[in-house]
Amino acid sequence: MNKVVLVTGANSGIGLALCERLLSSKDAEGLHLCLACRNMRRAEAARSALLASHSAAQVTLLQMDTSRISSVLSAARELQLRFNRLDYVYLNAGIMPNPQFDLKAFFKGLFSSNVITMLTTGEGILTQKDGVTPDGLQEVFAVNLFGHFMLIRELEPLFCRAGRTSQLIWTSSSNARRSAFSLEDVQHRKGREPYSSSKYASDSLSLAINTHYNKQGLYSSVICPGFVMTNLTYGILPSFPAFLWTLFLPLLWLIRVFINTFTLTPYNGAEALIWLFNQKPEMLDPRAKYHSLTSGLGHCYIQPRQMDVDLDTSEALYDELLQLEREVRRKQITS
Ligand SMILES: NC(=O)c1ccc[n+]([C@@H]2O[C@H](COP(=O)([O-])OP(=O)(O)OC[C@H]3O[C@@H](n4cnc5c(N)ncnc54)[C@H](OP(=O)(O)O)[C@@H]3O)[C@@H](O)[C@H]2O)c1
Repeated sequence: MNKVVLVTGANSGIGLALCERLLSSKDAEGLHLCLACRNMRRAEAARSALLASHSAAQVTLLQMDTSRISSVLSAARELQLRFNRLDYVYLNAGIMPNPQFDLKAFFKGLFSSNVITMLTTGEGILTQKDGVTPDGLQEVFAVNLFGHFMLIRELEPLFCRAGRTSQLIWTSSSNARRSAFSLEDVQHRKGREPYSSSKYASDSLSLAINTHYNKQGLYSSVICPGFVMTNLTYGILPSFPAFLWTLFLPLLWLIRVFINTFTLTPYNGAEALIWLFNQKPEMLDPRAKYHSLTSGLGHCYIQPRQMDVDLDTSEALYDELLQLEREVRRKQITS
């Protein structure tokens, strides 16, 4: 049976690897893949690369900038014109702008009992400088979470058509930490860890979506791709050119013998995204984060781990987002 799959942030990294793997899978026949990207030049390049190895594939493009409410609303309208249903929406677009890497804390952490946590979650060594979008929202919150939330709300008519389920799949992170998130400041205006806050919020929102929409057949899941070498991670050490990272690859492979979250390639990082594509969503645990892992010998596998989420916080966040949605819609009408 034909399936329609929408992937945000599909033109590079994990999103592009997911598209490649979906088209290479045994279920690729009849698949319609829609790549939602903010930059159409990069989107065209990604589509050409996919069609070069899968010439018969149905791959279409959609312009969408998740940081702009007007862009999300017009992308959603366009999707309703093009499709009569959506089976999977991969909410994958994400940013970590102006990352500040604390070298001193890193070296100190290397010789502490916290070393594994530090290497797997970035705890204590990574902060970011956030911006503000033209809609007046904190940028990381807007791109990683709120743009996606608005998209889901707008696409409701396309979900669960003809008695079928639809799945939302968030690319979260092991950097998602409750301590970086506050219900009093969901946009993280005051702190220095907007990335961690936005990813914790997506974990929490996923739980709320399951509470509110499972009865209608809409399911939400969360994955962590592990540590993957992409534009996002290259940005953590911007003065470190990409070829130097390549020189360091043997060291990273060695670390992977001890730390299986060092998935390193976008292909490996997409493992949990592909795995979820083949699962019955009713059977999944709404409180689990599905981790892409890679063994020292390069074998990819997934592991569910319980998220640090609770119903009260997820409901309160959901209410905050609905309130913000009403405000931005009002502004859209008056502007
Ligand atoms: N790499 C890792 O180790 C890692 C670990 C944990 C989680 N993640 C998550 O994995 C996801 C994919 O990231 P990646 O590592 O594959 O990095 P990436 O190659 O930089 O991919 C990010 C994608 O998001 C898109 N994007 C950024 N801002 C956008 C906006 N305003 N509107 C629409 N699309 C936008 C980018 O488009 P442009 O090309 O136009 O910038 C790009 O396609 C992110 O959510 C990230 O947080 C990554």
